[in-house]
Amino acid sequence: MLRIKTTENIRLNFQVSIKPEYLIHPTVSGNKFRKLKYNLEKVQLENYKGILTFGGAFSNHIAATASAGQELNIPTVGIIRGEELVTQIESNPTLRYAKSCGMHLEFVSRSSYNKKTDPAYLLQLLETFKDYYILPEGGTNALAIKGCEEILTVKDQSFDIICCAVGTGGTIAGVINGSLLTQKIIGFPALKGEFLKEDICKFATQSNWELWGDYHFGGYAKVDSKLIKFMNDFKLIYNIPLDPVYTAKMMYGIFEGIRSGEIPQTAKVLAIHTGGLQGIEGMNLRLKEKKLEEII
Ligand SMILES: Cc1ncc(COP(=O)(O)O)c(C=O)c1O
Repeated sequence: MLRIKTTENIRLNFQVSIKPEYLIHPTVSGNKFRKLKYNLEKVQLENYKGILTFGGAFSNHIAATASAGQELNIPTVGIIRGEELVTQIESNPTLRYAKSCGMHLEFVSRSSYNKKTDPAYLLQLLETFKDYYILPEGGTNALAIKGCEEILTVKDQSFDIICCAVGTGGTIAGVINGSLLTQKIIGFPALKGEFLKEDICKFATQSNWELWGDYHFGGYAKVDSKLIKFMNDFKLIYNIPLDPVYTAKMMYGIFEGIRSGEIPQTAKVLAIHTGGLQGIEGMNLRLKEKKLEEII
């Protein structure tokens, strides 16, 4: 585990530790490795023909599933939100990478994509992709939570506060289940919405957690120049890259918590770096188009 100090730390004598989950696998990084682990095991043990899953244009989950499928020789299908993207595979780093791993990409309209949990739609997909294992968007299911329960280890029991970025809520649910009741888990949603609490409650077995909802920066995959500057400064100071969709927002929130005193100076804080670095290239393309500072 890397041990870092915040800029204010030196003055405040405050330390944050980072759990570098992003380093556990070169391409199936961070929470993706944890979420896929038992799902991949099931696919192999039960002889499914392949994996079918869902994601957006820059999805970390799509990239990781494609890579894991390639490594384990499991065919993969990605149902991608947005028919228009069919002409943009080569210019989109995530889709290009998924395709290069052998993932079959199916581009669907937003209205079809919204049916991603509708049993009738899933049955229809299974008619084409017979005997495929369906993995929900973001890879969140009971087996994914089981994998995420392995993020925290006995060594992490000395921390008072554990911080985690939140998308669908699966990762934090596993972290909560793997924590001690005396520890507080703080989740930083990368998107707007109260619905997350309910989703986390479906899988979390303990109530020692809370969400800090002020650090979504306008919504999913939205960033502003303040966040990009923060990420770039962070990288320069600590030599640790953050991703723009999840971990940068979490880290920004942690720094704000330290600054405001909401995170007590005496607390031992662990931030889980859940990966997502593959998303930087795609985000930089969008920042370049808008003539904004890019991520270093
Ligand atoms: C890098 C990264 N961190 C955190 C998350 C949030 O995970 P979850 O969707 O399980 O809440 C995601 C999304 O899957 C992610 O890609």
